[in-house]
Amino acid sequence: MSIEHLLSDGIKATPPSFVRGILKAASDPGVISFAGGLPNPISFPQEELFESMERIVKTYGSNVFQYSVTAGLPELRQYIADRYNRVFGLNLTIDHILITTGSQQALDLIGKVLLDKGDGVIVEKPTYLAAIQAFSMHQPVFYPVELTEEGMDPEQLVDALQNPVKFIYAIPDFQNPTGLTYSARNRERICEILKDRDVVLVEDDPYGELRFDGERLPYIGAGKLPNSILLGTFSKIITPGMRTGFLISENKELLRYISIAKEASDLHTNIFSQYLLWDYLANNDLEAHIAKIKALYQKQAQVMMDAMDRYFPSTVKYTKPHGGMFLWVTLPEGVSAMSLFPKALERKVAFVPGDPFYIGIKNANTMRLNYTNADCETIEEGIRRLGDLLKAL
Ligand SMILES: Cc1ncc(COP(=O)(O)O)c(C=O)c1O
Repeated sequence: MSIEHLLSDGIKATPPSFVRGILKAASDPGVISFAGGLPNPISFPQEELFESMERIVKTYGSNVFQYSVTAGLPELRQYIADRYNRVFGLNLTIDHILITTGSQQALDLIGKVLLDKGDGVIVEKPTYLAAIQAFSMHQPVFYPVELTEEGMDPEQLVDALQNPVKFIYAIPDFQNPTGLTYSARNRERICEILKDRDVVLVEDDPYGELRFDGERLPYIGAGKLPNSILLGTFSKIITPGMRTGFLISENKELLRYISIAKEASDLHTNIFSQYLLWDYLANNDLEAHIAKIKALYQKQAQVMMDAMDRYFPSTVKYTKPHGGMFLWVTLPEGVSAMSLFPKALERKVAFVPGDPFYIGIKNANTMRLNYTNADCETIEEGIRRLGDLLKAL
């Protein structure tokens, strides 16, 4: 018997993740997958983490196995505050930082704290599919704003703000799914638009550390807008499996409510992971480690772009990322990437069709490709297979 009638409206309104749904097919041996968002495992500092693991058990004893405080390990929060103050000239203390179970949990908590059914959320078009999932649980109304090469379209943003909106969700650096980065001018413009407005800005920045081309840009709202939230994570620079991210806000009232939601959700983030990260950071050169990851991803991105130039028809366009893990392909008008997907799997190559990154759009002519989790020869071969399929259309 179906349990449908027992389900909440929230879960019924939440789409399953397309990426997780195809994980099995895409992980079939022989399939070259550009679908996931996996960091390259060779970027995980396994030996150093092993040393840290032994050290934390010896040094901190039972504390690493005990329940802990909701806000997170003070030493780790201090490290994050110092780093953001140094790099971005912010004025953070540990009281502005909440350690979360990945930045994905931060998205969930923000939805819980700010959204009632029917409330408005402004998102980029397209946006991160698991943010759509996390917010959908609260049945909001999404107002997508076009994402251009410069960032969120300012005029459309002003229009969208005419609606009863609670928050704006933006990924300004190497956006997931497009790989696009907001320009400095666009960031200033958005900050100007949001100044004096009664809305929260959520800047989600899992990829900012992975810039392999050009200089890092200031955030839109952090340090400038009183109702702003900044999200970060160790997933892309150390390991995602430790599920450790963080939420930064100088608005202590907002942070207090988000902490209450976290208490209710999981009490605190895995304390073993937090000690492990803190020890790793205290005893290793993070900048040197990140530099290695960036060099690796820059090469892989270049190999993918060169292969697309060689094997894709010239009618197919793609974004050129300056960092991060993805690029975004636009097929000729009218070609559905979703219909292409099973044919690509037959040719043993996988990608994510654009549809799940949009609100209410079907058969989009776009797709997301990840370049971080395959070696250069495999990327070349996968793009050749995709190119053959595109040419056969
Ligand atoms: C834009 C964006 N936000 C959040 C996340 C979640 O990251 P975490 O591993 O920190 O939960 C991801 C992961 O891919 C992402 O792309």
